[in-house]
Amino acid sequence: KRIAILISGRGSNMSAIIAACMDPSFPGEVKAVISNRPNAKGLETAKRYEIEAIAVDQKAYADRQAHEQAVLAELDRVKPDIICLAGYMRLLSADFVRRFEGRMINIHPSLLPLFPGLDTHARALAAGMRIHGCTVHYVTERMDEGPIIAQAAIPIEPGDTADSLADRLLRAEHRLYPHALRLVLTAQVRMVNGTAAVLRNPE
Ligand code: GRF
Repeated sequence: KRIAILISGRGSNMSAIIAACMDPSFPGEVKAVISNRPNAKGLETAKRYEIEAIAVDQKAYADRQAHEQAVLAELDRVKPDIICLAGYMRLLSADFVRRFEGRMINIHPSLLPLFPGLDTHARALAAGMRIHGCTVHYVTERMDEGPIIAQAAIPIEPGDTADSLADRLLRAEHRLYPHALRLVLTAQVRMVNGTAAVLRNPE
């Protein structure tokens, strides 16, 4: 299966997916990485892996819609079966999301439905949570609300700061994302009626 990854920055989750795909038994291959920011570090990393790295600079387009059309044009060319959002920090329009319904997934650094949006680590601490976590979910029109594919939890330790928590969670993200992607690629999870990720019994 063909995978495209959309990033905006560092791209460490992207790297985790690329690394997983290097295992010949992994059921997918990363065909392109697209960033809305031309200086995203992840683009350099992708190039080092000899993966097509495409910058679609949002500043070069008049508005959100024009930029999205340009991203779409790249995707039409790459023809991915699955799109992975990995730290892609730009909202996608309902049209875009619908076009890839059931074929676009995202990683979010919280145990959804808790803490959608930004600053999840600080908010988990402020709420007095004793655990924190990350979620891979299908992308739907409502941000951070799509059907959950997989989650991982980590303990919140005394003395944790938003930064220490983010660092520790990131390691869990790097394990979770390839795992969740594999579930989707092998159809062990799928989106039904736009609402639920259903686990099929292994044969
Ligand atoms: C990750 O924490 C991810 O959960 C969130 O944005 C961050 C991206 O980091 N959506 P990276 O670019 O994958 O290193």
